[in-house]
Amino acid sequence: VLAARDEAEAFAPSNIALCKYWGKRDAELNLPINASLSVSLAHLGSRTRLTPAGDDTDRVWLNGTEQAPDSAFSRKLLAFVELFRAGRALPVHVHTRNNIPTAAGLASSASGFAALTLALDQWLDLQLEPAVLSAFARMGSGSASRSLFEGFVQWDDGVRDDGMDSHGVRLAASWPALRIGLVKVATGEKAVDSRAGMKRTIETAHLYQSWPLQAAADLTRLHQAIDTKDFALLGQTAEQNALSMHATMIASWPPLLYWTPDSVAAMQQVWALRQQGLEVYFTMDAGPNLKLLFEADDQAQVEQAFPGIEVVAPFRA
Ligand code: PMV
Repeated sequence: VLAARDEAEAFAPSNIALCKYWGKRDAELNLPINASLSVSLAHLGSRTRLTPAGDDTDRVWLNGTEQAPDSAFSRKLLAFVELFRAGRALPVHVHTRNNIPTAAGLASSASGFAALTLALDQWLDLQLEPAVLSAFARMGSGSASRSLFEGFVQWDDGVRDDGMDSHGVRLAASWPALRIGLVKVATGEKAVDSRAGMKRTIETAHLYQSWPLQAAADLTRLHQAIDTKDFALLGQTAEQNALSMHATMIASWPPLLYWTPDSVAAMQQVWALRQQGLEVYFTMDAGPNLKLLFEADDQAQVEQAFPGIEVVAPFRA
C-alpha cells in the first residue's frame, strides 16, 4: 500500500502555443487532432502544495481562498487527483497559487494541472518519467502536457488509443533574445471554454477540415525558424497559425468570436508597427487577449506602443 508524504510542492510554468492545439480526437483522454508547439513562460505559472488532510476531507484552496467543494474548479481538480489515488483513502488538502498577473489575462489551467501532476508524483512517491507525467497532465488539460517542460515544447498527437505517446517533448534549442509580451484586452470568464469551443468548431465548421493541414505545415515552418533563428519566420508562422485557428472558430455555428473591438485594435496596431519596420507579431488563444512576439532589442519600442504590458524572457537564466 502506497503512503503519502507529509508534504509535496511543485511549480510549473504557463505556456503559449506558437502552433495551436485545436480539436480532440478523444475527448475523454484529451488526445489532440494535431501536434502543437509552445514556449513556456519561465517564472510565470502555478505552484501547488499537497498535504495529507488532517480532517479526513479533500479541500482545495486557490490563491489562498478555499473553493467550494461542489465548484467546477474543485470537482475538476479532485477528479484529477483521483486518477493518481486510484481509490485509495488518501484525503488531501490542495493549495494552488498562480503568479500569473491577473492583469495579463492568461489562462492558468495548463500550469495548474502540470504543477498538480508534479506535486502528486512527489506526494505519492511515484517517480514517473517526465513523458508519463506529461501524458497524465494532458488528461487534466491538453495544453498542460506542454507545461511539464521549459523552453520550446512539442506536444505530439500520437497514434495510440491509450494516449501514452501523446505528450510534451522539450526541444533542445534555446532563443535567449525571444520575448513574449502579454497584452491585456479584457479579463473575466470566457463565454465558451476551449473544450466546448473545439467541439462546436469540429461539429459545425467545414473550414475546420483545413486546420490539420495548416497546423502540420506551420509546425514544419516553426522548426525551421527555430533551427535557423529566423525570427520573421517564427513570428509570421505563429501569427498566421493563430488567425487560422480563429478563422475556424468564426466559421462555426453559432459563431465563435473571442475578439472584442479592443482585440482588433491591438492587432491593427501590431500590423502598423510592422509596416514601420518593427519586427513584432502576435498570437491569441481562445480569448480576447494578445501575446506579442518580439526580440530583446525591440523591447523598448514595443513597450512604448503597448504601455504596461507584462514582458517575459522565456530563455533568460
Ligand atoms: O488546454 P486547453 O484544453 O484549455 O486548450 C487550449 C487551447 C488553446 O489555448 C486555444 C491552444 C493551445 O494550444 O494552447
